[in-house]
Amino acid sequence: MRHRTIALAGVLVLAVVAGPVSAQQSAPNPHGPLPRGLDCSDCHTAASWKPAHLPPDFDHRKWSGFALDGRHASVSCRGCHLDLKFDAPRIAQDDCASCHADFHHGQFAQACGECHNATSFADVPAIRIHAQSGFPLTGAHLQVSCQSCHYDARGGNYQNLDRQCIACHRKEFETVKSIDHVAQGFPTTCLQCHDTRAWADAPAFDHAMTGFPLVGAHVRLRCGSCHIQPGNALKFAPSGPNDCIACHQADFERAHDNRGFPTTCLDCHTIDSFHGASFDHDGKFFPIFSGAHQGRWNACTDCHQAAPSDYSSFTCTSGGCHARGETDARHQEVRNYVYDSQACYACHASGRGGD
Ligand code: HEC
Ligand code: HEC
Ligand code: HEC
Ligand code: HEC
Ligand code: HEC
Ligand code: HEC
Ligand code: HEC
Ligand code: HEC
Ligand code: HEC
Ligand code: HEC
Ligand code: HEC
Ligand code: HEC
Repeated sequence: MRHRTIALAGVLVLAVVAGPVSAQQSAPNPHGPLPRGLDCSDCHTAASWKPAHLPPDFDHRKWSGFALDGRHASVSCRGCHLDLKFDAPRIAQDDCASCHADFHHGQFAQACGECHNATSFADVPAIRIHAQSGFPLTGAHLQVSCQSCHYDARGGNYQNLDRQCIACHRKEFETVKSIDHVAQGFPTTCLQCHDTRAWADAPAFDHAMTGFPLVGAHVRLRCGSCHIQPGNALKFAPSGPNDCIACHQADFERAHDNRGFPTTCLDCHTIDSFHGASFDHDGKFFPIFSGAHQGRWNACTDCHQAAPSDYSSFTCTSGGCHARGETDARHQEVRNYVYDSQACYACHASGRGGD
């Protein structure tokens, strides 16, 4: 009764009753056995038991191994030590569940402290938790609320969530307009072609998986150069990656103007560019881009009459070239001369006179 009066009357009454301290000193200890080194006078003044005067640097961790951080710092001693018994509760290190009800009804095998701290139960390190699971939170998933994936009637389902992309994205898969994924028979393992940032562009899509790798000049082309969108139908029907003419007929005709060039473009061009053809006719067969024949012919067929199907035969003497009278006249002095193309080549493999 007396204590209560003091407490209620506060400082004013304290001065009046300053005398009978010895009676209070004999009061029973409500705290249970104190840890060694801690005395009544560490927390109480001679004036009264209540309120206690804890030293400003009272370090709860030092006496108990249990730090009062986060929200625990503002919980009163009685909040945990019911009846002010400091030796209860006894807990295992950071065993939150000994004081906090298991909100999850045993869903999690992990200790509460794996996901929670004393600051707030809502402050869950989701990125770290997911990184340890088979479903790291990345890309667009970082922008989404927890509830958009962890949903059930209770408000939060963290158990047995299917982490296959298709489990949550079936609708998107079935309604892609640009390329009908179902008709194309695309696998439902989206990561093969997409990442989690956005669906557009399919950045992980490797065109080589279609059997037609995009290389050289084709790398930088837009899909629409070869495919009709939406639907992805092909504008051309090549028999394979090397069937250049199927798609480059117009280029071929424009550049080679029906001059009997073979349609096997790779013989002379690379897939990087049509400029600077590498065709070593001069070195390998016969000088036509240099020497006496440079600029003197119009088409491959001038010499290769069976071109483009056959370049192994050639003529020097038809189509107005090397007419008989003039040529015979030039060779009057020449032994073994005959007016025959194979013979001309045998004596003039370099295209010059007098080889
Ligand atoms: C670590 C600090 C600390 C120590 C050490 C300590 N006390 Fe206390 N004591 C408290 C606190 C805190 C209260 C609650 C004060 C309040 O409610 O304002 C308290 C309250 C009390 C009360 C009042 C109980 C009630 O029911 O209101 C008594 C009596 C008391 N202590 C006795 C003791 C005795 C005796 C000792 C030494 C054996 C002791 N205390 C040591 C902190 C301490
Ligand atoms: C959030 C809960 C919580 C609050 C608040 C709290 N304590 Fe504790 N305290 C504990 C726990 C838990 C232990 C025991 C740890 C263990 O099992 O080793 C403990 C242990 C102690 C011990 C050591 C007891 C022993 O026998 O080893 C003392 C002394 C103590 N607390 C004093 C206080 C005082 C004084 C306050 C108020 C300023 C306070 N505690 C507030 C949770 C709390
Ligand atoms: C000895 C008992 C005890 C232990 C052990 C304990 N707490 Fe507490 N905790 C309390 C009490 C008492 C409160 C204050 C009452 C309240 O607000 O619910 C509290 C409050 C909290 C709060 C603020 C309340 C809220 O709803 O936001 C959080 C967060 C919290 N504790 C987290 C933890 C975590 C995490 C652990 C384990 C690392 C833990 N607690 C261990 C007793 C304890
Ligand atoms: C695997 C991680 C994990 C573990 C382990 C875990 N929790 Fe949780 N807890 C969560 C998640 C996630 C939420 C929901 C947070 C949100 O909705 O913002 C949550 C929410 C809570 C909430 C409600 C917060 C609020 O007010 O909405 C409490 C209370 C809670 N947990 C207590 C515990 C306790 C006690 C334990 C140990 C028995 C525990 N949790 C273990 C992940 C976990
Ligand atoms: C895009 C969907 C998605 C979002 C958003 C998401 N999660 Fe998850 N989460 C999952 C999936 C899928 C799993 C299951 C992983 C597994 O089974 O390995 C999971 C697992 C978890 C687990 C682990 C459960 C366990 O058993 O260990 C926790 C905890 C969790 N999520 C919390 C959160 C929190 C908190 C947020 C919000 C910050 C969040 N998640 C946002 C999809 C999501
Ligand atoms: C547990 C459910 C869940 C799983 C599993 C899941 N997602 Fe998601 N994802 C979502 C939710 C919810 C959103 C946000 C709402 C939306 O845009 O559909 C989202 C958004 C996305 C987005 C952004 C969409 C946009 O419109 O910008 C992409 C991309 C994505 N997810 C890819 C994936 C991939 C790839 C996988 C498989 C590795 C996957 N997701 C697995 C739930 C999931
Ligand atoms: C074999 C590769 C491949 C796979 C596997 C694949 N996609 Fe695609 N996806 C593409 C390509 C290529 C595009 C077209 C990209 C573009 O038009 O920018 C595309 C486009 C999309 C689009 C439309 C993007 C937009 O903004 O127009 C969505 C949505 C989509 N995919 C969802 C999915 C989902 C969901 C999965 C898994 C369930 C999946 N895809 C699996 C290759 C794939
Ligand atoms: C240089 C021309 C070219 C470009 C550019 C091109 N494709 Fe293709 N694509 C093809 C050819 C040719 C095939 C057929 C391969 C086969 O079936 O042998 C094909 C096949 C495909 C297929 C397989 C299904 C089908 O329609 O036959 C998909 C999916 C596809 N392309 C998507 C794309 C996307 C997405 C882009 C843009 C990133 C793109 N393509 C750019 C030429 C091209
Ligand atoms: C026998 C070698 C050869 C073959 C085969 C060949 N080209 Fe050429 N191409 C050339 C040469 C040499 C030039 C340089 C211009 C010239 O003399 O006609 C050239 C030039 C071109 C050019 C013009 C490049 C520029 O700089 O503007 C295009 C386009 C072209 N070729 C397309 C094709 C295509 C398409 C094919 C296959 C269908 C093809 N070519 C097959 C040798 C060839
Ligand atoms: C499925 C159709 C297709 C096939 C097959 C194909 N291309 Fe192309 N290629 C294209 C398209 C479409 C372009 C872009 C045309 C444009 O921009 O005028 C292109 C561009 C090019 C360019 C760049 C032209 C420029 O003017 O910059 C080169 C070089 C080229 N292709 C070489 C080849 C060669 C060599 C082959 C055979 C090995 C080949 N392509 C097979 C469709 C094809
Ligand atoms: C002035 C005549 C002449 C012209 C024009 C000419 N060639 Fe030739 N070509 C030859 C001669 C000569 C040979 C050597 C024949 C031999 O080795 O059997 C030859 C050899 C070839 C061969 C090797 C044939 C083989 O099977 O051994 C090819 C391929 C060829 N020429 C392609 C062309 C192409 C393509 C053109 C047009 C760009 C062309 N030639 C223009 C004269 C000509
Ligand atoms: C048996 C070897 C031989 C045969 C076959 C031959 N030539 Fe010659 N040709 C020569 C010689 C040697 C000369 C140099 C004669 C001189 O300068 O008096 C020459 C000179 C020439 C010249 C003049 C060169 C110049 O620089 O003025 C031409 C053009 C020529 N031949 C074309 C041909 C043609 C076309 C054929 C085939 C119908 C042919 N030759 C067959 C050996 C031959």
